[in-house]
Amino acid sequence: MQGKWTIPQVILSIAAVALLVVAIVMGVRVAGLVQQTSYEASLTPTPVPPYGNVMQVTVDPSAPTPEPVLRSGSQGEDVRRLQERLQELGYYTGTVDGQFGPGTREAVTLFQSQHGLGADGTVGQETRTVLYSDKAHQVIVTPTPTQAPATQTPPPSSGAEVTGLLRSGDSGEQVAALQERLKELGYYTGAVDGQFGEGTRKAVKTFQRLHQLDDDGVVGEATRKRLFSDDAMVITLQQQNSVVGRIPGVDSTGELVLVNRANKLPDNYKVSELVNMNTYCDSSIVKIKHDGTLGERMAVDALMVMLRAAHKDGLTVWQVSSAYRSVAEQEDIFEEQVQAYMNENGLSRSAAASAARQTVADPGCSEHHLGVAFDLTVPGEFFKDTKQSVWLAENCWTYGFILRYQADKEDITGYLAEPWHVRYVGTEHSLYMYQHNLCLEEYLQR
Ligand code: DAL
Ligand code: ZN
Repeated sequence: MQGKWTIPQVILSIAAVALLVVAIVMGVRVAGLVQQTSYEASLTPTPVPPYGNVMQVTVDPSAPTPEPVLRSGSQGEDVRRLQERLQELGYYTGTVDGQFGPGTREAVTLFQSQHGLGADGTVGQETRTVLYSDKAHQVIVTPTPTQAPATQTPPPSSGAEVTGLLRSGDSGEQVAALQERLKELGYYTGAVDGQFGEGTRKAVKTFQRLHQLDDDGVVGEATRKRLFSDDAMVITLQQQNSVVGRIPGVDSTGELVLVNRANKLPDNYKVSELVNMNTYCDSSIVKIKHDGTLGERMAVDALMVMLRAAHKDGLTVWQVSSAYRSVAEQEDIFEEQVQAYMNENGLSRSAAASAARQTVADPGCSEHHLGVAFDLTVPGEFFKDTKQSVWLAENCWTYGFILRYQADKEDITGYLAEPWHVRYVGTEHSLYMYQHNLCLEEYLQR
């Protein structure tokens, strides 16, 4: 991606900075006052020495002043602005506090990776230029559908031209042309049969979501223009070990770890990085029901991106009732349920345990052990009846989440439907499962 400076401007500014640095170093040496400058200042192009006696130089006022490189440890207004911008684009979900900490570094790295910049986590001129340009796009939850360079975007290959409005129920050549285009871009996996059915609608909706278009599943003018333009993003399956594509909840080969009745959490499984959701998550976006709730960092980041989108859609009340659980915590939850059945329903211990198993996993067999599953609720309401539940079922896939226990998959998952339980798997998996209506057990058998 290209910066906005011309070559003479860059040379001029480098010369100006070099002159200034030489002047300062000389001034400091002459004065003999400073033994050491701080690491931060030594890397900043316009350091201010802590003492006086500096040789004065006149810098050409027309030369652009290069802005300081921002990196871990930097602070101040510039960092605050950076955090705000990254937040606006969905890369940063932490607090805007003007402190360049690990969260900001991760956000910068993710931004760089998704924009073809060297992902070093520091903000130099090139990253800064892209960040504040119209080339900066919203975060795409990893692993990414990548923005293909214009030359690689497949040109529309169909003879028929899509002109009017297309929606569910329509049929004919234009629908076939639409399906073909969606297929070329990786959104549609069904047959090009000219029938605008559910698969086509889902593909259109996914396309719209990822391009920040109104996601009504109907092809109107804005969707059509974007779809047949060079700016249409192509969904490509990335290598699972790519820099940002490393999803949590996978084994050493990059395959999603299945934890269910028949598959215990592998003994050697290590949760990559747990964060305290009570302090990590913005409480205006989501309430964390219990103190000390932990979640895997990347999954929590993805969750926040998703919930911010839900807020934009007008759904502003969300609660996390449960996230990471240790095996010991699962033992407590399971036991509590068994006791409830024994006390309230008068069941024997073994009958109570069988009943509990319908809804609660045995210790060691819960997906919550991975740290990437979340129970989302609305305080005081039965989640199944909420608008949030409908939104989640329709949209979680676009943000890399799957609805893990669906009503039509109870026989396979072994649990009664849980419209509140989502697991983060990354979009390359979630979109496929959505389009093919597969639960995780089916998907892993594919
Ligand atoms: N409720 C789900 C199955 C669990 O306990 O992990
Ligand atoms: Zn759950």
